[in-house]
Amino acid sequence: MAVRGRVRWWLACAATVAIVLPLGWAWQSSLLPDSYDPADMGYADWGGGPATSHAGHDGTPVADLTADPDQIPDVTTTLTVRDEGERYTVNGTSPGPELRATVGDLVEVTLVNDNVTEGTTLHWHGIDVPNAADGVAGVTQDSVGPGEEFVYRFLADQAGTFWYHSHQLSHEQVQRGLLGAVVIEPDGPPPYEVDALAVLHLYDGVATLNGEEGTATLEAEPGDRVRLRIVNTDNGLAPVWVTGTDFTVVAVDGTDVNEPGLLRDATVRVPAGGRVDLGFTVPDTGVRVDFAGSTAMVAVTDPTAGTTPGVPSATTTLDLLAYGEPTDLGFDPSAPDRIFDYRIGRRPGFLDGRPGMWWSINGHLYPDVPMFMVSEGDVVVFRIKNTSGETHPMHLHGHHAVVLSRNGEAATGSPWWVDSLEVAEGETYEIAFLADNPGIWMDHCHNLPHAAQGLIAHLMYDGVQSSYLLGGEHHNEPE
Ligand code: C2O
Ligand code: CU
Repeated sequence: MAVRGRVRWWLACAATVAIVLPLGWAWQSSLLPDSYDPADMGYADWGGGPATSHAGHDGTPVADLTADPDQIPDVTTTLTVRDEGERYTVNGTSPGPELRATVGDLVEVTLVNDNVTEGTTLHWHGIDVPNAADGVAGVTQDSVGPGEEFVYRFLADQAGTFWYHSHQLSHEQVQRGLLGAVVIEPDGPPPYEVDALAVLHLYDGVATLNGEEGTATLEAEPGDRVRLRIVNTDNGLAPVWVTGTDFTVVAVDGTDVNEPGLLRDATVRVPAGGRVDLGFTVPDTGVRVDFAGSTAMVAVTDPTAGTTPGVPSATTTLDLLAYGEPTDLGFDPSAPDRIFDYRIGRRPGFLDGRPGMWWSINGHLYPDVPMFMVSEGDVVVFRIKNTSGETHPMHLHGHHAVVLSRNGEAATGSPWWVDSLEVAEGETYEIAFLADNPGIWMDHCHNLPHAAQGLIAHLMYDGVQSSYLLGGEHHNEPE
């Protein structure tokens, strides 16, 4: 080989190495870790405050973070999950049975997996359960295999509307119907005659209301006060509007709104995973509630009989940032112990070895994302900023956070407590909560395919140790 040829050969080699090595490194570091341990995945983010200790190795195992094991349950039930081909059913139906309890009850649910070969779990969306009952495969338990059982125990300490769904292969199992509603009633007689559920779900692209297509009847008489509990179990935002009467938004994500004002001709937007409870009195002339323009509920007579579903009569959109009246939050968010950035973007790279365009968090791709570290008792602020080009319904497990501001504009209404918050493209939300529920908690997008595309991070308490493995013999795959 001539000298020039040899030089060119060496240059080509060097160039190849320069490209292949970083690519190989990026590929290798994109592989999913064995466990949700800050040492194994991501990097510990202490949110500006001092790191208090080395979490993850010497703390309380997640499996030990349970409700009082000696307390006798007030509500006991068994939920049996079956794979019926197209759908998953719970006790034979989808949506599964509605679970009802009264505030203060200890609830004990036995999940039985009849025949779901890939395994399953139940997550109690919006209920701030003890960590061991959170139902996330690989994080708070092992996926429950066919023929196996798992017992969930939690205190129903907040009255409101919630739901349950699988958190094993959730983007698949939830979409195919492994879900149901949970209602926790207040103590004492309810201030309404009719308490109804509207569970919204798309099966194979077909919109349903409580499992049925089209228009349902709301069983109510003129003069009845109604509380209508809307649960959006889909991946997208559901606009809801009421025709024929004034109404109020009584509760959002399981928390009552303080002094909600009367609304008329307003569209209410329910984020994926979110719940909105509407309150109204049925007028003699009837009332109609439309959900996402696809399904509806009608009481007495249909005030818009003959009009096409999907055309809202509503002219304004309710902004919860300024709805209702302020009241005490129960904690002071003005001097937080930890302030975290949760910046959502999108960029090319590898996710578990697969090349593609993935969601990024603070510029990083899952699993190399922040492990948001807190200590029990911390006041925590998250700044969620979305510049990813798409909207994201963000869901934090185990806590309710209050919205402080949107795009720098402070909240002025009732405390707006959320567990599922729509963060549209270009928006920045500041939310705050008290870290009062030790564990490892998912903080992810509830457009579940987005979670499977890497839009997941975790909140982890100092002094807690992970007990489960991702993948492994139980094939734990939470997304
Ligand atoms: Cu409704 Cu992480 O889930
Ligand atoms: Cu998303």
